[in-house]
Amino acid sequence: MTDPAASADPAELLALARDIALEAGALAALRRAEGVEVAAAKSSPVDIVTAADREVEQLIRTRIGAARPDDAILGEEGGTAAGRSGLTWVVDPIDGTVNFLYGIPHYAVSIAVVSSPDGGPADAQTWTALAGVVYSPGEGELFTAQRGGGAHLEVRPREGVDAPLAPGASGLMRELAVRPAAPLGQVLLATGFSYDAELRAHQASALTALMPHLRDLRRMGAAALDLVALAAGRVDAYVERQTNAWDFAAGVLIAREAGAAVVGHDGAEPDTRLVLGGHPDLVAQLAPLVADVGY
Ligand code: IPD
Ligand code: CA
Repeated sequence: MTDPAASADPAELLALARDIALEAGALAALRRAEGVEVAAAKSSPVDIVTAADREVEQLIRTRIGAARPDDAILGEEGGTAAGRSGLTWVVDPIDGTVNFLYGIPHYAVSIAVVSSPDGGPADAQTWTALAGVVYSPGEGELFTAQRGGGAHLEVRPREGVDAPLAPGASGLMRELAVRPAAPLGQVLLATGFSYDAELRAHQASALTALMPHLRDLRRMGAAALDLVALAAGRVDAYVERQTNAWDFAAGVLIAREAGAAVVGHDGAEPDTRLVLGGHPDLVAQLAPLVADVGY
């Protein structure tokens, strides 16, 4: 198979991902307004799924399937649907599910389109991300990037709160850039915790060792939104262990297109083991520190 990345049009993929994310975000916000309950626990009692997570993912799958029947889909709630094109849509219908449950409007739909070399299965170590969208409907913020096209924030009405835009209209667009590298002592670091109690305890003790070196930490509750906060210069850096591909696929592309370096374990590509991002000069300083504290 020829390299699928070479023949795909990132702008076209981004336009479709944006349309789908807007529709999915509106549905999530509507379900949130109607009231949300836990439907089931997954990897641990605190790792939950709501009916809205499933319904929103189903909507996204239906829309992708109708527009791009040859593409694969990897989604948090529905697993993998194989494809033939070499492109995979990596989908988190609601990132920040716990915020969603508690009525904190900091949750997002995250959709990335990635291309696998030789058309194999999507693997974060080897894929090329072509387009990414992270949409926070409760905050009216739509973050987008296409490969080589920079990263943008579209400021939109908050779903269910502000007056909607005219059909088809766009919000105000702003180009995103990471903050210049801060001295370590002035770094505001976003992070998150695993749902696994043992790993969470380990993360907390490693962060205790990091804290004296930093300005402060932020645990905002949605990995995709942490990565776009990095892209928007709202934090200096982001680090997290044990996230899933759907948590970081779109956010990593958006952060990179905004000028961030995003690395994984031992400087490799980010993956489920580690995602560390920031201004490239800062990541060069943070990576050994993060390794030293055993994070
Ligand atoms: C979680 C959030 C959280 C992060 C966890 C993720 P979910 O995703 O992104 O911020 O710390 O690692 O699993 O469960 O809300 O989709
Ligand atoms: Ca999720």
